[in-house]
Amino acid sequence: MFEIRHQDPIGCQEDCLIIGLQNVQDKFGGRLSLLDQQFNGALTELVKSGDLSAKCHCLSVIHTLGRMQVKRIVFVGLGKPKELKKQDLKKAFGKAFKQMKKMRWTSAGIALDTFTTVHITALDAAFALSEALPLSTYEFEGYKRKPNIPDAPVGRAAVFADGKDEEELKAVLKKGYVYGKATNAARTLVNMPSNLLTASQLAVYARQLSRKYDFEIEILEKEEMEKLGMGALLAVNQGSVEPPRMIVLKYQGKAEWSGALGLVGKGVTFDTGGYSLKTKAGMTGMKTDMAGAAAVFGAMEVIGELQLQQNVVAVIPATDNMISGNAFKADDVITSLSGKTIEILNTDAEGRLILADAVTYAKQHGASYIVDVATLTGGVITALGRDKTGAMTNDEVFFEKVLEASAETGEFIWRLPITEADQEKIRDSKIADLNNSPAREGHAIMGGVFIGEFAENTPWVHLDIAGTATAEKESDLGPAGATGVMVRTLAVLAERMAVK
Ligand code: BES
Ligand code: MN
Ligand code: ZN
Repeated sequence: MFEIRHQDPIGCQEDCLIIGLQNVQDKFGGRLSLLDQQFNGALTELVKSGDLSAKCHCLSVIHTLGRMQVKRIVFVGLGKPKELKKQDLKKAFGKAFKQMKKMRWTSAGIALDTFTTVHITALDAAFALSEALPLSTYEFEGYKRKPNIPDAPVGRAAVFADGKDEEELKAVLKKGYVYGKATNAARTLVNMPSNLLTASQLAVYARQLSRKYDFEIEILEKEEMEKLGMGALLAVNQGSVEPPRMIVLKYQGKAEWSGALGLVGKGVTFDTGGYSLKTKAGMTGMKTDMAGAAAVFGAMEVIGELQLQQNVVAVIPATDNMISGNAFKADDVITSLSGKTIEILNTDAEGRLILADAVTYAKQHGASYIVDVATLTGGVITALGRDKTGAMTNDEVFFEKVLEASAETGEFIWRLPITEADQEKIRDSKIADLNNSPAREGHAIMGGVFIGEFAENTPWVHLDIAGTATAEKESDLGPAGATGVMVRTLAVLAERMAVK
């Protein structure tokens, strides 16, 4: 996919040459002067006439008209170098790659040092481009007789760089690509419909991952769940003809199995709401209710690829939420794996139920830290919109680590509080220890508070991705549909927890 070339990009022979254009006084001075000379100063003229812009997010393609071997140059405006952030750079690369995809150019040369600034090193730029390439050109194949994927994908990039740090550069290019690919794998799972991606199919997927990366795997079937007393997951599955699965993947990156990071992902393959039935408009799109599970699988893929020195246990409770003569109902009282009893007030608050058993199970598997990821509430969309993931925690120090990881990936998270008054609401039941849905008010918070009852003293962060798991519009880094949100943040978290 990536090749490193220790030459001047003028020698580029790919379908196009991608150059970062920074908004500085003499845009074709310094490292770009040689290029301008190829055109007898015409590029400078184009800037003057406004036909070529260094404004951030501005893309200009010029044909080389035989003056260079490469047929065209894609200039990506980067704005003022001092203001350029790593995330902007990623988007800028995404824009360029999307253009390539559209034009069916399959190979690119990239003038790496035109993307560096005082704050952004060549390695930063290399990471940005190698992550942006798979992300921006992703497309879900779908099930049309004529598939959606392009016949000529962007397949090769030659990175023109100076001879320094060749090994490091190679490693970073690989790493960014791994991150992007794993995010795309999560996107594909989320984009798949629930008749094709059932709980048992999620288990099949987990088994493939375990084979590829040598993860230890445990897949619980219904009978074993009954023996263990996973009453919460079983209750949600009760109305379904599709059997549930509790999926556990273990990656041991340290000599001893201790201090493990637990990643718990909501795997509701389809959410009808159960007897607290959703409206027909509210129900469409609910095939994406396993995006938390997909994010965890994606993160495990990165962890397996990079062979991190950190212990990680992934726990995925998988089922759909259906109705039938057997389905669970409002007023039912169930007993969770933890032993805590739950009065069901709303069968549509099913995510927190299956996560309750999964969090308990993660602790039983030795998780010392837990992050749960879930498309948990419509409330989080009302509160934070569709571009911020809601977070909650019982541990300031651990939350800070998650927040730092999210800042690094650009996957914005914002914290909601947990108060004692809210805990009282969740514990308010005449006949059980907890109820699963006290009221509509602040219900994004209630979901987190409920899961917190099962995390207990284990440092825990809850991520509600109901708004961020899917995008209504395409962006520089991907099409509309599943985003693969939190794959990268979870993986960066694991990386940062790993001993160096
Ligand atoms: N899967 C939904 C949350 C959701 C809503 C995800 C919209 C993506 C888009 C979840 O299981 C749910 O139904 N939540 C209810 C909770 C309520 C019953 C307390 C909700 O948010 O309305
Ligand atoms: Mn629901
Ligand atoms: Zn749901």
